[in-house]
Amino acid sequence: MKIGVVGLGYVGAVTAVCLARDGHTVVGVDVDRAKLDLLKQGKAPIVEEGLAEITAEAAASGRLLVEPAVDARLADCDIIFVCVGTPSAPNGSQSLVAVERVAEQLGQVLRNAAAFPVIVLRSTVPPGTTETVFRPLIEKASGKTVGVGFGLCFQPEFLREGSSVKDFYQPPFTVVGAANERSLVPLRTLFGSLPGEFIATDTRVAELLKLACNAFHALKISFANEIGRLGRSLDLDARSVMDLVCRDRSLNISTAYLRPGFAYGGSCLPKDLRALLFLAKRSDVDLPMLHGVTTTNAIHIDHAASLVKAHGSRKVALLGLSFKPGTDDLRESPLVALAEHLIGKGYECKIFDPAVSLSRLLGANKRYIEQTIPHLDSLLSEDLEAVCAHGDVLVVGFKTPAILAALGRHARGARAVVDLVGIDRAAISCTYHGICW
Ligand SMILES: NC(=O)c1ccc[n+]([C@@H]2O[C@H](COP(=O)([O-])OP(=O)(O)OC[C@H]3O[C@@H](n4cnc5c(N)ncnc54)[C@H](O)[C@@H]3O)[C@@H](O)[C@H]2O)c1
Repeated sequence: MKIGVVGLGYVGAVTAVCLARDGHTVVGVDVDRAKLDLLKQGKAPIVEEGLAEITAEAAASGRLLVEPAVDARLADCDIIFVCVGTPSAPNGSQSLVAVERVAEQLGQVLRNAAAFPVIVLRSTVPPGTTETVFRPLIEKASGKTVGVGFGLCFQPEFLREGSSVKDFYQPPFTVVGAANERSLVPLRTLFGSLPGEFIATDTRVAELLKLACNAFHALKISFANEIGRLGRSLDLDARSVMDLVCRDRSLNISTAYLRPGFAYGGSCLPKDLRALLFLAKRSDVDLPMLHGVTTTNAIHIDHAASLVKAHGSRKVALLGLSFKPGTDDLRESPLVALAEHLIGKGYECKIFDPAVSLSRLLGANKRYIEQTIPHLDSLLSEDLEAVCAHGDVLVVGFKTPAILAALGRHARGARAVVDLVGIDRAAISCTYHGICW
């Protein structure tokens, strides 16, 4: 293929020389003359393991051409990767100045081009940038429309500095957000045989994916470091603890607990997190991230309450109460906290949870609910139909077959559903609010 790469920094330089080594003709563009001079001489513009050899090889092959500006030489490319910088502003926003400039320049080049190049934005950008910033600028400057005159994708880059050449050939996966199927074709050809799955998705999903992955990596590092600081204050080496944490591939290093949904709760997570934070406080160890976990959980419950309140009616059916279906453990259930909040604000709640029978509750569980919702017996009903009929707002806390079937009958007309668990939206024929989707 003939491939353009605009921006020859860490991402662009690695992309350009690796593709040239793989046999493609590459036109690299950068405004930085020093980088262009180095590449012309077969020298890598950045320090990366293995890059010097590949750059020398690519330059010697004659397949790596470099240019100081986006010009007509890009017009007949099959794919044009845009890898310019998107540096942070002091308020955290990302500068899109270079992305916008390149979009206009590419548009001008495309104006008289006969080819159908697929333009692939690889710079990390906020969700919506490809469709609402990049695309209109190209379309305006070129007079062409996406899908007809050119293809458009956003492909997040997952390479890490220090191992970027290895990461180029062994990405965790290849994710491409595409405006249309035609745009995906040359990318499947180029990257389809790399290890890791090739996944086509929505451009905004792909854009947020990149930010989410990096936020997750930062979160993992900070979690390990907070456990490390706590361990040190307790005179133990938390590296051993984290080694063991990582050995659990079932609950810890897995997809468990990694889907947006309702708040955590129950008799263990809140209690043990509090215990850990107490240990830290006693030792004067600051653990702001783990402290923040309790804050974000409380905010999540408040958010569910605000979705209920937004409907305007005070009649609420709460479908589920305990901290997970099939248990009668009510201790620190987030659904109990939600019910308590709504009842405290004067909402008329009826609650259905077949596993919870007040007459059977014992011990700490019984004491907890008596303190939290003292008159629960008057609100709790085993009659799912009656509970649903009462509610103008149906709050779905469990996804059991009985509840799903009842929703099919009752989630209609002027009612609203607040979904905390991710039900099939197609079954709902009234107003629908997902908790975080
Ligand atoms: N560095 C990484 O490890 C990494 C990994 C994944 C994603 N990213 C993202 O990829 C993008 C590029 O990152 P980077 O580290 O390669 O940046 P970089 O600053 O190293 O390189 C950007 C290059 O773009 C060039 N440039 C700027 N404006 C230009 C223009 N109008 N025309 C042509 N060239 C222009 C600059 O001269 C520079 O060489 C960023 O959005 C970054 O967030 C970086």
